[in-house]
Amino acid sequence: MKTIVVTSRKGGVGKTTVAVNLALEAFAAGARVIVADIDPQRSATDALKARTRPGPSLVETSAGKLFQLHMAASREGVDLLVIDTPSTPDAEVAMAMNIADLCVLVSRPNFLDVASVVRSSEAVRRLGRTGVVVLNQAPPSRKGIEPPVVLRAVEALRFCGLPLAGIGLRARAVYQAAIAHGVSAGEWDSNSTAAREVAGLWRDLEHRLGVERAAESA
Ligand SMILES: Nc1ncnc2c1ncn2[C@@H]1O[C@H](COP(=O)(O)OP(=O)(O)OP(=O)(O)O)[C@@H](O)[C@H]1O
Ligand SMILES: [Mg+2]
Repeated sequence: MKTIVVTSRKGGVGKTTVAVNLALEAFAAGARVIVADIDPQRSATDALKARTRPGPSLVETSAGKLFQLHMAASREGVDLLVIDTPSTPDAEVAMAMNIADLCVLVSRPNFLDVASVVRSSEAVRRLGRTGVVVLNQAPPSRKGIEPPVVLRAVEALRFCGLPLAGIGLRARAVYQAAIAHGVSAGEWDSNSTAAREVAGLWRDLEHRLGVERAAESA
């Protein structure tokens, strides 16, 4: 079993959007997935309860109960545990990071978010965990040219000591519409650019997790 924790000290950056889309992407590929919602705000729970078709198992829990959940899920043959976290407190997020194979740090491409990620990446390193930064809500490129705000963020993130998973997810209305129905961008519109972004992000993270795809290992 692989465990990913989706974090950011900043609120509203897209932790839940990223966590839910990744969980649904893995589920669609046939994985047994659990989403652990340790945010008292319960946004991942709201999203997945709006879902009207089969999907990942949902566990509304707290940081202190994650270790037990992790053990039980691993015993029961779950393939992927995705943990959606609150922005604070740090101690609870650290508990989640400690059981994760990969810490996904979400950031919007603006100065304050990026500065915050640089600090969070120190926490990941201090805990001896593996991390990756995902840019979310980046404005789309135009004719292949990245907006300056994105280029500046990518440049600044080079100093956080963690790799960047491509540009991640752009700011797109599809993500907002899809999550309100508990579906991924791909389930909402399989031909959308957002669908391709989520698939690309999941491929990148799977690779970092060392998950071999059936087609690749055949
Ligand atoms: N890539 C995106 N494009 C457009 N809207 C987005 C995107 N990602 C997130 N949003 C929207 O931004 C808002 C915040 O997203 P989300 O709830 O996922 O953030 P969060 O980091 O989990 O917030 P919180 O800190 O409150 O848990 C939501 O309205 C969501 O629909
Ligand atoms: Mg959230």
